[in-house]
Amino acid sequence: MHKDIETVLYTEQQLSERVRELGAQITNDYSTETPVFIGVLKGSFVFMADLMRSIDLPCQIEFLAVSSYGNKSKTTGAVQLTQDLQADIENRHVIVVEDILDSGLTLNYLITYLGVRNPKSIEICTLLDKPDRRQAEVFPKYSGFTIPDAFIVGYGLDFAEKYRNLPYVGILKPSVYA
Ligand code: IMP
Ligand code: MG
Repeated sequence: MHKDIETVLYTEQQLSERVRELGAQITNDYSTETPVFIGVLKGSFVFMADLMRSIDLPCQIEFLAVSSYGNKSKTTGAVQLTQDLQADIENRHVIVVEDILDSGLTLNYLITYLGVRNPKSIEICTLLDKPDRRQAEVFPKYSGFTIPDAFIVGYGLDFAEKYRNLPYVGILKPSVYA
């Protein structure tokens, strides 16, 4: 285990099993459709890559990027779109793929932002959900794991751009960001 990690919450194998379940569920729910998956960079890139390979549907894969945290471990509430969506999503079934749903401010902003482009439907698939910290009402249709209020890194999630490459999800030692 990495020296800055306090506890491993989900191992590589647990993540892989749960991601496969989510993929199967989405495959089943969209069986007659060609959905557009929109990954929220950067945090979702590992989850997105694994999720896509467990989806057995014709589909389109897109990304956009937001930044909301800077190098802090708590949100400032201000969401900034740093890379816009390239694709036209009008009349398409959209699934927004996120690493973690925390205050909900990022996804709340994105759902409104994407909604203006008239998709046929728009749903959220998040790997992790911290419901205790919610400030905006956001309801993910697909959620991998509900987790306690702690700062998590690994499997795409960072602190100050580090730890994204850890193959597991773990709680960061508070001494690292105190
Ligand atoms: P929200 O807007 O507060 O819901 O935060 C969503 C974004 O904040 C996520 O996409 C993550 O990039 C980041 N985030 C929230 N909680 C954590 C965490 O525990 N570890 C790493 N990033 C986090
Ligand atoms: Mg993120």
